[in-house]
Formats: sequence, structure tokens, C-alpha cells
Amino acid sequence: MTQQNWRKSVVYQIYPKSFYSPEGNATGSIKGVTAKLDYLAELGIEYIWMTPVYKSPQNDNGYDVSDYYAIDPSYGTMDDLDELIREAEARGIGLMMDIVVNHSSTEHEWFQKSLAGDERYRDYYIWRDEPTNWESKFGGNAWKYDEKSGQYFLHLFDETQADLNWENEQMREDVYEMMRFWREKGIKGFRLDVINLISKQQDFPEDDSDGRKFYTDGPRIHEFLKEMNEEVFEGHDVITVGEMSSTTLDHCVRYSNPDEKELSMTFSFHHLKVDYPNGEKFVAAPFDFVQLKDIMSTWQEGMHGKGWNAIFWCNHDQPRVVSRFGNDTDHRVESAKMLATVLHGLQGTPYIYQGEEIGMTNPGFDSLDEYRDIETLNIYKLKREQGVSHEDMMAAIKQKSRDNSRTPMQWDATPHAGFTSGTPWINVAPNYTDVNVETALDDPNSVFYHYKNLISLRKELDVLTDGDYTLLTPDALDVWAYTRKTDEEEVLVVANFYGPETTYEIPEGFTRADVVSHNYDVPQLDGTTLSLRAYEAIMFYKK
Ligand code: NOJ
Repeated sequence: MTQQNWRKSVVYQIYPKSFYSPEGNATGSIKGVTAKLDYLAELGIEYIWMTPVYKSPQNDNGYDVSDYYAIDPSYGTMDDLDELIREAEARGIGLMMDIVVNHSSTEHEWFQKSLAGDERYRDYYIWRDEPTNWESKFGGNAWKYDEKSGQYFLHLFDETQADLNWENEQMREDVYEMMRFWREKGIKGFRLDVINLISKQQDFPEDDSDGRKFYTDGPRIHEFLKEMNEEVFEGHDVITVGEMSSTTLDHCVRYSNPDEKELSMTFSFHHLKVDYPNGEKFVAAPFDFVQLKDIMSTWQEGMHGKGWNAIFWCNHDQPRVVSRFGNDTDHRVESAKMLATVLHGLQGTPYIYQGEEIGMTNPGFDSLDEYRDIETLNIYKLKREQGVSHEDMMAAIKQKSRDNSRTPMQWDATPHAGFTSGTPWINVAPNYTDVNVETALDDPNSVFYHYKNLISLRKELDVLTDGDYTLLTPDALDVWAYTRKTDEEEVLVVANFYGPETTYEIPEGFTRADVVSHNYDVPQLDGTTLSLRAYEAIMFYKK
């Protein structure tokens, strides 16, 4: 993939811990990824984003890195990684590594030296005499006291994930050097973990909220990203995507506008908070469909011609989309395809999370014992202490826990879904006997082949890359219809997000012959009146 045409490509995200263990271990491995490359090539994707496989105590499943230059033995060896890069490349697939440099594990040598008061490293982290009232994203206060020095260090995530001090130039140089090491290995992309949190307001004020306004899209963030680009990316065949926590459209335009020389594209998350009542995640609640359309449409329009969106429904931090915005009981297949169609019609680079392409669902775990995630377990404890009932917490966790997307990839109907011959680190979703890759590949009408078609359309139809976006149904309570247009081409996407049948008057000029993607047999089109069945979605294309 060259610098010119990466915008037509699709990225597939792998959470290696839950992908495949040919060794029969509890957790997946790098060799497990290599073993499944032909499957990914068949799907048609161009990049794999693999979540962290560096050496780590695994308190946050690898987002707590203790050595940026080493592979965690549970995932294999550096030779395994070199093999994966080579084998992926041979299939036209580039590997994107996850770079976690807002924080490191407290087991990292830098932190250990910092703790010991080493002159060079003390300042690699953020130490203060007094804490602030900022909250950790995983619950509780964001500062941890160190008795020896009598100071507090900042951890925006778990207390074993200490925030790095980006004000320190030497620290930044060490980070860039590490990134160049991976680039020289043949990595084709960098996914930058919570990168818009690296620049903290230096007076560290108290907040009337959780503190995020003092470090989100912080004072020197654009300067740091420009420096990183110059030091690591510029002039190299790599793409970059920044994970942007609670960001704004204006900042994302700047992060991803090629003229700014910062990043290729950005993930934002506002569209995945439409089921957070009053901004609170751990409360069971339905999603707000009108708000979902509104947010995604605002970002489509706002980034057009200026920045570039990474577009996605799922990742390892989000519940499964078919359980969230679709219907995973009566209409799993139709609604999984509908959601895929809506997403792949948008402008930006689609990211498909492992298992999404076969319509994997939330597992529906009812017992706290089945959950593994540090955020889930921390928040459960905290909310119970605050008086929330066990039942309410379990209902919220069942819907919102990050473990919903972290259950083993469902390869076939054999025990543990073919993920491992051993005992997996987290239970497999009970529906694996029906929902699995083997079944999907045997069925020409499966969710898999629907994704495959959409991915190939992204390469064939320039309008899907270049066209501007117009929302046609801002107020409709069931239909999302939009167009994408260039001077030469036009795409129309119409989707029913719910079970009851509905109708929609499509714009003049589209006919049955223009249908390029559909999740039912024949469209019910009478003149311009389109009748939509449960979760029906159609993509029309004309020149
Ligand atoms: C975002 C990652 O996607 C998530 O899994 C992790 O817990 C936090 N960043 C902290 O690194």
C-alpha cells in the first residue's frame, strides 16, 4: 500500500490474547495470527492493527508496557513477530503496532529508576508534592503516593500505569527512538494509544469535574505530534492513527489534516457514548438512535476535505455492535449486515474488529467470576462501595464491560470454538456452535461475505473515498439514509435500524439495477417508495 492510496484500504483489528492459540494455551499468540493470515487475505483487508504484544505484567492486557523492545513470552518471540511481518507482507497486508506512550507500566525500567530517584529518570514521570482531585479512567483518584520520596505520581489509568512526562525532552527522544526501531522492522502503521492525553496543563489545577479538561488535547499536543511526525513518520511508508479520548472535531481536523503534518487519521468516541445516560458508562440503558446519526453525521461533514476519520463500531474496549445497536437474538445476521453497510458507506478508513465480520455477539455473562477486565472489576468494587446494588451493576456490566469483545474468536464448533485445545483465559460465548468462521465461510449469505463485498466496493468505487456526505433522515426514529457524492458518482445508503417494517421515499433516479449491497433478496421498491423489512439495508450506486 503506497502513501497515495492508503485511504482506500480497510484495517482489521486483532486482540491477540483472544485470537488463536495453535499451541493450546490459555491465551492466543503471534504465531496464532500468522496462522490465520490466509483468512484475513480472503476477507480483503490491507492492514492488521494488533493490540500490544510487548513485555508486560498484563494488568491491563498489555497496555501496561514494561519493555517496549521485547515481546511478552506469552505471545511468543521477536522471531515470531518478524515472521508475522514477512508473511503478512507476502499477502499484501501491513502490520500496524500499538504504541502506548501516554504511560508505561510501573515495572518499566524507566519507572523503577524514577522511583529510585535516578537523576536522569526521575523526571520521566509526573511527580508532585500534592495530589489533585483528578480521577483515574478506571475509577478512584489518579495520583498514587510513594512513601520513600513523599511525592505522588500521576496515573490516568490503573495505578500500575504511570503517566510519562512529555515535557521531558530526553524522554521524548527515547520514545521516538523506540518507534524508529519498530519502523525499521517493517511495521507499516502505528496506532497511538490515548495520544491526545500526553500534554498536561503544567499548573495541575483542582477540577470541578474529573480533571480531563487539563490534559485532553492539552497545551502542547500539536507541537508534540508534529515533532513525532518529523522524528518518526515523515518520508516513510507508514500510516498513523491516533486514539483520541473525549476530543473535539476541531482538534481532530488538525491532527489529521495532511497540511498539519501530524497523523493520518483519528479515532473519536462520541458516537459510542449514545448509551451512556448523563455521560455515565456503567448504567444499563438503550441507545439514542437520533443522536447516533447526528454525531456521526457531524463528524462526516466536519472532517470532509480537511481531516480523515478512522470509522468503526467495535474494538477491544467496546461491546459487540450487533448486541449494542443491532439485534443479536431474532435478527443477528440481518442487523450485523445492516451495521456493516452503514459504516462502510461512510468517509474514512473502516476498522473491523476480530469477529465482527462473522457477527459475533456479547457473551451475556451473568456472573462476576466470568469477567477479567481491570476496568470492570475496579468499577464494580467502587460502585458497590458507593451503594449501587449488585443487580444494577451486573446489568450494566453485562451490557458495557470491555470483556464483551474480548471473548475468544469463534473459529469453529469444536470445544472452545477452536481457539485453543486448552482452557481459555476467558470463557467463549455460548453461541459459538452457530456463530463461527467455519460456518460463515460455508454460507454464501453469511455476514462474512457481506463484509467482503463491502471491502471490495471501497476499492472499486472512488465515491466511497472522496464523496461528500449528506444525511437525509436527521429526525427519523428508525431510518438512517444518506448520500455520498462527487461530480461523477453517487451512493445512497438506506438502513432500517429496527425490527418493525417501515417505508422511505428515496431520491429520484435510483433503481433496483443500482443496488451494490443488500441484506435481503430483492428490494421492495415501488417507484421511489422503498419498503424496508427488519434491519434491511441497501446501498445504491450510480454514475
Ligand atoms: C486505550 C486502550 O484501547 C485500552 O484498552 C487501554 O486500557 C487504555 N487505552 C489505557 O492504555
